Amino acid sequence: MTASLFDAHRPQTEGIVPLGEGAAVLRGFAYMQGEALLAQVHAIADAAPFRHLVTPGGHTMSVAMNNCGALGWISDPRGYRYSPTDPLTGNPWPTMPEAFMALARRAAAELGFDDFVPDACLVNRYAPGAKLSMHQDRNERRDTQPIVSVSLGIPAMFRFGGQGRDVKPLDVPLFHGDVVVWGGPSRMNYHGIAPLKEASHPLTERYRFNLTFRTAR
Ligand code: SIN
Ligand code: FE2
Repeated sequence: MTASLFDAHRPQTEGIVPLGEGAAVLRGFAYMQGEALLAQVHAIADAAPFRHLVTPGGHTMSVAMNNCGALGWISDPRGYRYSPTDPLTGNPWPTMPEAFMALARRAAAELGFDDFVPDACLVNRYAPGAKLSMHQDRNERRDTQPIVSVSLGIPAMFRFGGQGRDVKPLDVPLFHGDVVVWGGPSRMNYHGIAPLKEASHPLTERYRFNLTFRTAR
């Protein structure tokens, strides 16, 4: 199915929504590429199936995940970390598609992060009800590099907090094609995803996919 520029699932067109110093939502930044990105997501999942990881605390995550790129983020009872191989298959993670890399670099540059070279792309898959608790992305060695996050499929409420857990988060809806960048003074801000509401998208049915690009090493 072709997602046209004028379809009803495009709630907001273009524009930058600032979230803080070094952080913003780029509305619709990946919209025209959505269908191509999703085709790559499915190809990645053929080689590295989506799975529900277990946290060190023994909790099974509601979000299903896989990765592409040189390193992939994993969690198991031993902890959170990056791994060059997929523990499920023993194989290296699928290569990061050129189009993923180019999109992430272009988005980072919009916020002035001109030398972003991600080596890890975590792919999150949310069904209605799935959520991601407030957390900091702190397993990357290069925290001078931003995080770039691409939303595809059904909408979600992104919660963007501050450096401490006490800061009341800003709630920002994210739609198909939106890209969020946070770096610089906002790089270690707490963030999360509220439980997804029941919804359907012409390209993903009941799912939301999120690509998060990081420089892990
Ligand atoms: C993340 O924090 O890793 C993902 C955020 C999102 O799904 O938008
Ligand atoms: Fe995160």
